[in-house]
Amino acid sequence: MAHYRNNSELFTERRGIIYTIFNSLGKTFHGSRVLRRSRRFGRIAKNRLSRWVFFLAALFSISLTVYGLKMFFQAKIESTLSMPHNLQQEQNMAETILVSDAGRPPKSKHRKQHFPCEVQFMKSVDGLVEPKSYMNFSQFSLEYVDEEEKLSENDLFEPQFGGHQTLKEREKSFYANNQTLHCGFVKGPLGYSSTGFDLNEKDKAYMFSCKVVVSSCIFGSSDFLRRPTSRLISQYSKDNVCFVMFLDDQTLSKLSSEGNYPDDRGYIGLWKVVIVKNLPYDDMRRTGKVPKFLSHRLFPNARYSIWLDSKMRLNSDPMLMIEYFLWRRNTEYAISNHYDRHCVWEEVLQNKRLNKYNHTAIDEQFNFYQSDGLTKFDPSDPNNLLPSYKRFNGS
Ligand SMILES: *[C@@H]1O[C@H](CO)[C@@H](O)[C@H](O)[C@H]1NC(C)=O
Ligand SMILES: *[C@@H]1O[C@H](CO)[C@@H](O)[C@H](O)[C@H]1NC(C)=O
Ligand SMILES: *[C@@H]1O[C@H](CO)[C@@H](O)[C@H](O)[C@H]1NC(C)=O
Repeated sequence: MAHYRNNSELFTERRGIIYTIFNSLGKTFHGSRVLRRSRRFGRIAKNRLSRWVFFLAALFSISLTVYGLKMFFQAKIESTLSMPHNLQQEQNMAETILVSDAGRPPKSKHRKQHFPCEVQFMKSVDGLVEPKSYMNFSQFSLEYVDEEEKLSENDLFEPQFGGHQTLKEREKSFYANNQTLHCGFVKGPLGYSSTGFDLNEKDKAYMFSCKVVVSSCIFGSSDFLRRPTSRLISQYSKDNVCFVMFLDDQTLSKLSSEGNYPDDRGYIGLWKVVIVKNLPYDDMRRTGKVPKFLSHRLFPNARYSIWLDSKMRLNSDPMLMIEYFLWRRNTEYAISNHYDRHCVWEEVLQNKRLNKYNHTAIDEQFNFYQSDGLTKFDPSDPNNLLPSYKRFNGS
């Protein structure tokens, strides 16, 4: 796996912006290309979009996911953006970026203060050009398990959203090979009820049309809604980027009771509200991982996708972010550094401190990661997984 440390000269900001860039798709599991295949596997659906995003949970993070597409930019920018000539065939290429951005300073006096950092974005989206050499990454095709069957009649089979992946299958899924893998949205056999994350057809059709996506979610009324700062978003992006906020009914009623109702077209500000029914997990944080990690499933034709934690407000134009974090560096994926924590060891402690989840279960998971080879983050190791520009103080 290739992990590239960022060129630190570029990041003189107080906090690191991008900390991990996976530059070589062929050696990572962060992206993929779907090639057309004529064969259909019995219970395996063919999915045109083929990448899956994986990133470390950083509370404050924006992730960008890049996909291939046919006709990407229209209208005004079409003339200024020159697409790779072979883009037609590259419609399902996938890449990812991780980006970080500036959140608001936390209010609590127990927390450190954090301020927005300067990012050297281009001044405007006018003249933005996707580099010709961009997407020169390894390509492979992925398909996803769509449906699982009971193995035998007296099998106590319970369909689940993530399916029933074995550890061996999990291991295989990390390699950038042509393969079929479990990636959520797994249905049970006919007659079984939905495994969750149900969307209405109109929203699905809208999501199907998206080429560039900014998405976020709030489930279980766990947060308030932060609208993108409209004056900082170009008209081009307003016209061409899908800004999708996934909510459950509970959150929608709470927001509505506070005066944030979707308009007739289903928008609250720039956010297009998409209601998710039948949440797949009781734990809202877990459900929130579905749109976060599986945006390539939700937006199967998107070429770029940015994930925004609900704690963050979008204060930059998404196209400028794509230019800065992906195009300018020829990278596929960018992820933000966390403000304070840089290591799973710290994250585990913090999750327990805040009682975010059953502590025994956290320990089990943590032990599992360690048995998988996870080691403590060492900021002085040039090959460390998550390069950080901030001193790791271990607190
Ligand atoms: C694409 O990458 C290969 C090797 O990684 C390199 O030889 C080739 O010049 C690159 N092509 C472009 C257009 O950048
Ligand atoms: C994946 O399959 C395609 C044909 O469907 C083939 O051209 C390509 O070389 C394969 N890639 C890998 C990494 O096996
Ligand atoms: C916490 O997790 C452990 C291990 O997964 C489990 O055995 C236990 O029942 C859980 N406790 C609660 C209260 O859910």
